[in-house]
Amino acid sequence: MQFGYFDDTRREYVITQPDTPLPWINYLGCEEYFGVISNTAGGYSFYRDARLRRLIRYRYNNASLDSSGRCIYLRDDDSSGHLFWSPTWQPVRHPLDEYECRHGLGYTIIRSKLAGIEAQIRFFIPLGENLEIWELTLTNQREGPANLSVFSAVEFCLWDAQDDATNFQRNYSIGEVEVVDNIIYHKSEYRERRNHFAYFACSEPLVGYDTQREAFLGSYRGWDSPQAVEKGQMSNSLALGWQPIGAQHVKIQMKAGEQKKIIFVLGYHENAQDEKFDPPDSQTINKSTVKAVIARYLQTNEVEKAFQALRIYWDGLLGKLQVSTPDDHTNRMVNIWNAYQVMVTFNFSRSASYFESGIGRGMGFRDSNQDLLGFMHLIPERARARILDLAATQLPSGGAYHQYQPLTNRGNNDIGSGFNDDPLWLILSVTAYIKETGDWGILDVLVPYDNQVGTEEPLYGHLQHSIQYTLERIGPHGLPLIGRADWNDCLNLNCFSDQPGQSFQTTTNKDGKVAESVFIAGLFVLAAREMVELGKKLEVAKKEGKAVGDFSLLPSPTLLQNIAEMEKAVWAAGWDGKWFRRAYDDFGRPVGSKECEEGQIFIEPQGMCIMAGLGVEDGRAALALDSVFEQLATPHGIVLHQPAYTRYYLHLGEISSYPPGYKENAGIFCHTNPWIMIAEAKIGHGDRAHDYYLRINPSARENLSELHRCEPYVYAQMIAGKDAPLHGEAKNSWLTGAAAWNYIAITQWILGIRPTYEGLEIKPVVPSGWKDFEVRRHFRGIRYLIRAERRATGNGVRLEADGKSIEGTVIPVPPAGTKEVRVLARIG
Ligand code: BGC
Ligand code: NOJ
Repeated sequence: MQFGYFDDTRREYVITQPDTPLPWINYLGCEEYFGVISNTAGGYSFYRDARLRRLIRYRYNNASLDSSGRCIYLRDDDSSGHLFWSPTWQPVRHPLDEYECRHGLGYTIIRSKLAGIEAQIRFFIPLGENLEIWELTLTNQREGPANLSVFSAVEFCLWDAQDDATNFQRNYSIGEVEVVDNIIYHKSEYRERRNHFAYFACSEPLVGYDTQREAFLGSYRGWDSPQAVEKGQMSNSLALGWQPIGAQHVKIQMKAGEQKKIIFVLGYHENAQDEKFDPPDSQTINKSTVKAVIARYLQTNEVEKAFQALRIYWDGLLGKLQVSTPDDHTNRMVNIWNAYQVMVTFNFSRSASYFESGIGRGMGFRDSNQDLLGFMHLIPERARARILDLAATQLPSGGAYHQYQPLTNRGNNDIGSGFNDDPLWLILSVTAYIKETGDWGILDVLVPYDNQVGTEEPLYGHLQHSIQYTLERIGPHGLPLIGRADWNDCLNLNCFSDQPGQSFQTTTNKDGKVAESVFIAGLFVLAAREMVELGKKLEVAKKEGKAVGDFSLLPSPTLLQNIAEMEKAVWAAGWDGKWFRRAYDDFGRPVGSKECEEGQIFIEPQGMCIMAGLGVEDGRAALALDSVFEQLATPHGIVLHQPAYTRYYLHLGEISSYPPGYKENAGIFCHTNPWIMIAEAKIGHGDRAHDYYLRINPSARENLSELHRCEPYVYAQMIAGKDAPLHGEAKNSWLTGAAAWNYIAITQWILGIRPTYEGLEIKPVVPSGWKDFEVRRHFRGIRYLIRAERRATGNGVRLEADGKSIEGTVIPVPPAGTKEVRVLARIG
């Protein structure tokens, strides 16, 4: 069963019934002001940091689901029963005659009809602005005139969303607003240390407003039946403490067939410290600095212009990589939704969704470095800035803060560091960035450690430190020590927690000198090989007299030696006979081995070790992948491990805290599946790689929506594994490394279009049944028009660029001034 359909020409997903299994959400905003919006206009907005600069409240686990956020009410002032409804369905949930929600790229349009009144609301954030627009278009489709009341409402968050949800003894007294010239200003704490405020404006004159929540709702009433809406009368309440809101009342009269537009603008503004008040010695917000922008976006022509600019912006971004393959799900995800999700994960890491409250985590170190892998080609300058921000949270030890807050760029102390895989991911993002852009200069940029002035070192030194960090933490089997956890945050081998409420990630009861990770060993080999290659390229560049900075290059021979030793350790202690083991626990016993009672085989080391090249030449990779196929693959994707843990193991940690089949306990992690796709592609198995790709491809699962439950246009973190009662049910959509990795797997390894230092590599490993496909790819300012044609079975490639045949699989970067290169790839 489906709850909507894809409209690929408009790049929209169209939801046709409001009661989707879960709120099906979208993101607004591209730069600094952002919103999360559901198909019924629920959600919240924030400026840069979902925790520290939250504009509106949202209650995550509320009953009913998704019942607050952006509220619009329509009231039929003519009807005797005072009919009122939400044109977005929620919060009133009055049945609608028609309903449709179009989630597009950076905007959401909800259209509905009831009692002869059609309402369409377009929600979006204009580029470059810190505000969101709700453009309401009403059409009177009745035979006669209509008198309507329109109400809007948002509940303000007192900025720090964590404090807002807990510190009521203070919060109940600090709320403050101003209502001036038809605009509601939320200014809690502006009198003291904050220099920012929110505003809520409307293009029509208000006949009333409320800013005190209970005055609007009536006591003991919810957002589904506000008293003011029922009565058709606001009380012009001014919030002092309690729960400040912004609610507006507009009355309109429409002739038969008439259409009217009403614009609501919700925004965020900062004033310079010495310009906060007007008059300067007062406590009144200086509004002169924000008036112009508000006035501008209350005009319909400006709104239309801004909307078109947003469309063009996305056309440009998506135009950087477009594919046309025999498979519609591949095309749709690569061309539209997967790229879009990559942008969203780049923006928020794991911090702000309907499941991640925006309170707990900021930007994850490993997460953001991986998100970058899919994002580079979209906006390289922003990728560069992010890399430098991340590197600045690296610690002098070479380790890294696990997370940092986007507003401050400072590492989060409550979680700290000690996740031993973290620093290695930086190497992957930096090398991918240089391959994409050719911007060697990034290696020269002086970046501090832990943001401490005086500790700056060229970025290249940070990468060396990442390598060093692993080498200084080697365990009894010669494998890297795991620390608090590696990619699998829930494999907490040094934690031994027996007290409820303890964080598995920060509780460390063991000294961490024994438990080792085969996964980190694989990641190390992958990253260290990147460093070797980078070092070689730098040497060449130096010889050629190019300015590559005056940092000393890590001598490759040492590193080669380190890699060889690590590989040896993996084969000696990390190979189980038919697959790679996962780890060694604090007692020195293997995890992910046939010797184990449960958790005998894990997906992560198979993916990572083979991506690093281990066993690719000698058949052991193929053996491991067959084991994955036999033991871990399901029709809904590949589970994390088998057998699932059926009880809590003190020495394993959070992984065994989840019921079997969920999350890290043998759920299908959409993040790790692409590693197996890449591994299969590496050994030439195009059919299997693409088959795995389709099993978790959201679009391909659209007709399973009733089971899958999450949005069919984006990846979810997890799909319940085969041990779960609801095998196939997805959870935690949107903010997941699945976005970047699936994008990489399909574009770079299955379609095989890979940036390298020398140029664009074209080496497809596609399904045997594919006769041809085309790719348009912008790479270093040049447009590549690639056509691949199958001439025989197999994965051989013969390339022609602009009619000339090319040696090997890399199209060298053409001479400056070249705008376009036409490539023909003959496969077989
Ligand atoms: C995992 C969750 C876990 C959390 C702890 C995440 O990486 O996916 O399962 O509960 O970390 O912070
Ligand atoms: C989600 C976390 O954000 C990520 O860092 C981690 O690797 C996975 N869960 C697996 O635990």
